[in-house]
Amino acid sequence: WKNGLGYKTPPMGWNPYNAFNNAFNETLIKQQADIIANQGYLAVGYRYINLDDGWQASERTNDNKLSPNSSKFPSGIKDLADYMHKNGLLFGIYSDAGNPTCGGQPGSLDYEDTDAQTFVDWDVDYLKYDNCNEQERPERERYQKMGNALKNATAGKNKTIFYNICEWGTSDPWLWGPDAGGNSWRTTPDIIAFWPSIISIIDSQVRLTEYGESRRGWNDPDMLVLGFDRIPYEEQVTHYAFWAAMKAPLILGCDLTKVTNETKALILNKDIISVNQDPLGLSVCQVYYRTDNKSSFDIWTGPLNDGYAAILFNRGIEPISITLDFKEHCHLNGSIEVYDLVKQQTYGGYTNNYTAVDIPKHGVEFIKLIGGNRIDDNRTCLNYS
Ligand code: DGJ
Repeated sequence: WKNGLGYKTPPMGWNPYNAFNNAFNETLIKQQADIIANQGYLAVGYRYINLDDGWQASERTNDNKLSPNSSKFPSGIKDLADYMHKNGLLFGIYSDAGNPTCGGQPGSLDYEDTDAQTFVDWDVDYLKYDNCNEQERPERERYQKMGNALKNATAGKNKTIFYNICEWGTSDPWLWGPDAGGNSWRTTPDIIAFWPSIISIIDSQVRLTEYGESRRGWNDPDMLVLGFDRIPYEEQVTHYAFWAAMKAPLILGCDLTKVTNETKALILNKDIISVNQDPLGLSVCQVYYRTDNKSSFDIWTGPLNDGYAAILFNRGIEPISITLDFKEHCHLNGSIEVYDLVKQQTYGGYTNNYTAVDIPKHGVEFIKLIGGNRIDDNRTCLNYS
């Protein structure tokens, strides 16, 4: 990307906010990082270990720098970053484009250059930059200042800092995020670990899918809530399929010491992750939806480097079948192999269409089409804007 801070595929990692709010310290962060590094997560691509609001001391130092809360982080932040790097991980930090932060700690507004330099000194790899207490200053200007500060502080060094504009979608950050130096931008309010929040985020992304792509940066519909008890397995599959295929950053937020084997296998599913990390870097978009008194479902599709991804999504509460028409929904013809990315099995060759049967309540069939021919390069994305 123009600012030189970019990566070709969405970032993957872990953040403490959803499971622990601000009740985290260096012991807890290292414990979770060890699980990421040693229990299969790093091997499939999860590598950023990020802090959230609550790592800071309540006052700046005498020379106006941010510093950690010393009872939570007695060894300091550089030490923690070094720990991550030693274990093959990357390290992210949090601040706010206002003052104070949402949690009442010192924010970075008007201290952008000082704080960007501090983050470079600490060897930080990722910044989540929040949007509380904006002091009536325009979003774009506040975010641009930190974008510039990160660019200047990293210039000429062997260092990049992934810049997450955590702006919640209030002033269309998908339009100006790339020019402000952003590598991703939050498109929604905070996710909550239950179905109404997941479905409302999916709905709010329908008109945004064209903005998240590798040439610009990524729409960020907030962190994954996989591994939270209140979400049944089928809904977790739907959530993961959409985030992966929309090219969202995959930032886990659960307590990794408590993940069930079933959810862990889902999180570590390499086929789902490979859709997210596909080198073409394009989001699926909604190509069909239907709601009537019998059923309610959508179809989302999009090209991959080596195939075509499709999500057949049952919004309703009774199991249903959904037919994907290769020509109409994917601009494909010829003989096509259907691979189920969740069950990791091939269903064989099809021409014209494929019908997924018994898609459960709130569930998806998430498939990859292999082979066939592209009829043209067009897509028929529905656009609600
Ligand atoms: C609002 C953000 O959207 C959340 O993800 C989290 O960072 C909190 N602020 C922390 O205060």
